[in-house]
Amino acid sequence: PTPVFLDCDTGIDDSVALAYLLRSPAINLVGVGTVSGNTDSAQAARNTLDLLAVAGRDDIPVAVGAHDFTSHPYDGGAPHVHGDNGVGDVVLPTSSQPIDERTAVQLLIDLSHTYAGTLHLLTIGPLTNIAAALAADPTLPERIAAVTTMGGTALAAGNISPVAEANIGNDPEAASVVFSADWDVTIVPLDVTMEHTLSDADRHALLESPSPLARTVGEILDHYLDFYLPQYGERVSSLHDPLAAVIAAGAATITRAPLVPVQVDTTNGPGRGQTVVDLRGQRLGDRNHEGVRTRFVRDVKSGTAAHLVEVITS
Ligand code: BDR
Ligand code: CA
Repeated sequence: PTPVFLDCDTGIDDSVALAYLLRSPAINLVGVGTVSGNTDSAQAARNTLDLLAVAGRDDIPVAVGAHDFTSHPYDGGAPHVHGDNGVGDVVLPTSSQPIDERTAVQLLIDLSHTYAGTLHLLTIGPLTNIAAALAADPTLPERIAAVTTMGGTALAAGNISPVAEANIGNDPEAASVVFSADWDVTIVPLDVTMEHTLSDADRHALLESPSPLARTVGEILDHYLDFYLPQYGERVSSLHDPLAAVIAAGAATITRAPLVPVQVDTTNGPGRGQTVVDLRGQRLGDRNHEGVRTRFVRDVKSGTAAHLVEVITS
């Protein structure tokens, strides 16, 4: 299995992704760092530890990362989307595992040495910790096999501004650093994740599972289906972070993912946080993007929810 370091802002869909990573035979989750986003980084760490305890995986280190973003303070997260505690206001049993004493940056750097050349980095929150890790240790990319990140948009509207998706829009400066570092980044944007949904029937399959982890995830998802009802016109959940996890596990059929230059708008105007993706080469067919290491996912075959349910209930 691929050793994976997860950086997250746990979060309802982060919780689903985490459950999947814990159960996927393709993944060896070796550490988790948390960042503010859906909730603050300390709460995200508590949520993560509590979920790990439900899964019986108290052995996985969880370290708290940045509370504030690179150039501005954390602003209180998204309680209307993820509940006041980040996990849909479900009260999780409290884990007795202590939070790792290291920062998320240090944990990532340490694990990059332990698993040098094989460690896969999966980010499903703002990229604050990862940019800080690159600043702390510019040799980090040499030891990371690949990066998969949920964030950004190609053509569709954003979700925290007309053009910005939350993970990028909350810390555009960090995203800009991460996307221009010397490593292969697969970007799983909002346009694609919005097309992959989990139904209330899928949620009930989780709730009816003998697995406590699956049942907990099913409970947490209730709040998310309420939130998405007006957008989809039915009780379904977007699979933002879970789709990125499935892609990191190599379990998705990606039908289109061109290697294209991706810039992040870090100005303070209305475009702030937008991922500016140069898709012209696709149209012209002859543009040479030599040296480009950002792969922008455009299309993934359906079936994600069924796969998630199968793995999480296993
Ligand atoms: C992303 O933002 C967060 O709210 C979700 O957990 C996901 O990572 C979607 O824009
Ligand atoms: Ca997230």
